[in-house]
Amino acid sequence: MATIVLGSQFGDEGKGKLVDILCASSHICARAAGGNNAGHTIVADGITYDFHILPSGLVNPKCLNLIGTGVVVHIPSFFKELEDLKQKGLNTEGRILISDRAHVVFDLHQLIDGLEEQELGKGAIGTPNQLVQVTLAHGFQKRYGDFLQYDVEQEIARFDDYRTALQPFVVDAVPLISSAQGSAEINILVEGANALMLDVDYGTYPCVTSSNTGIGGVFTGLALNPFKIKEIIGVVKSYTTRVGAGPLPTEQLNENGEKLQSIGWLDLVIVKYSTAINHYTALNLTKLDIMDDFPEIQIATAYQLDGQVLDFFPADLQKLERAEVLYTTLSGWQKPTTGAKSYYDLPKNARAYVEFIEKFVGVKVRYIGTGPAREDMIMRS
Ligand code: GTP
Repeated sequence: MATIVLGSQFGDEGKGKLVDILCASSHICARAAGGNNAGHTIVADGITYDFHILPSGLVNPKCLNLIGTGVVVHIPSFFKELEDLKQKGLNTEGRILISDRAHVVFDLHQLIDGLEEQELGKGAIGTPNQLVQVTLAHGFQKRYGDFLQYDVEQEIARFDDYRTALQPFVVDAVPLISSAQGSAEINILVEGANALMLDVDYGTYPCVTSSNTGIGGVFTGLALNPFKIKEIIGVVKSYTTRVGAGPLPTEQLNENGEKLQSIGWLDLVIVKYSTAINHYTALNLTKLDIMDDFPEIQIATAYQLDGQVLDFFPADLQKLERAEVLYTTLSGWQKPTTGAKSYYDLPKNARAYVEFIEKFVGVKVRYIGTGPAREDMIMRS
């Protein structure tokens, strides 16, 4: 059976910690999509680990880790990240595999990404994902002229070396996933990268990544059996921020904006929309502790445009820009939540916040993050 963890907003929700906790009861931790532009931070036993291309199940010594077919791999970054983990004392030997169908990204692509971003304007995001390097280089050279910093021969020579080094990590991921998912004893944990609002089809296009970051990308990226999914957990940060450029309807530019460092109140229109696409069976509300000091907390529950209430997230960003956000105000709790061991250790108003969210979205908040550390997570049955 498989459990899937996905970001429900704009990324940086704190998916890493939940993945780390769930890894304790998982046999395989797999990445399905994205590349090394994603990143999870895990704090375990006082050590902070940063993951970009590698699955964060590596922190758990019993977990086998897979970089799935849908992932775009920058090979030098893969080796560098492994080396960094080794430096921190983590033994990854025999526990990391890469699908033989995964995409490879060259330095050439990264160079072109930069040029395209310049061409498109600040904040555009993109990750191309195909091979055939020489043809690409010539095509790009025609388009962009002389980008002499790139040496085709040198990169090809480098990849000849990587081919040998990479060999022990490569696996046919189709039979691996198929037999693992078919076994009642094996738990697969899928670690989502980025988040739904950065999905190329359902996110705030054009301020999105170039892949499907939602549930669709998980199925194509790992060839999972959709009938053998145990849980789809949406990670929801208690407030909203976004990674990169793009709209943020609940952005606070007033006094609270400064307090929240130009981030926004929790936007449940987004979480509801995200749920309609990813079909979460449970939510993990994270960073509740960040809300501890506010006397009042607002939650966005609808948008209003030209006198009409829009209760669903619009595709048209111009509509979104003109829309007014409708909020519900809840009382804050003004007490620390970090250290609470069970749900009923949380202040009453913090519980009211949690319950408002689950009622509005229609999905149980099963996990609540109250601090960065592994133990700062309340679990509800
Ligand atoms: P992307 O994959 O880049 O979208 O990020 P992510 O969702 O994996 O976020 P990540 O796990 O890297 O968490 C972001 C930061 O939030 C890290 O520094 C975590 O330690 C921290 N964090 C996670 N959960 C909590 C929490 O409940 N409270 C607080 N204060 N920090 C948290």
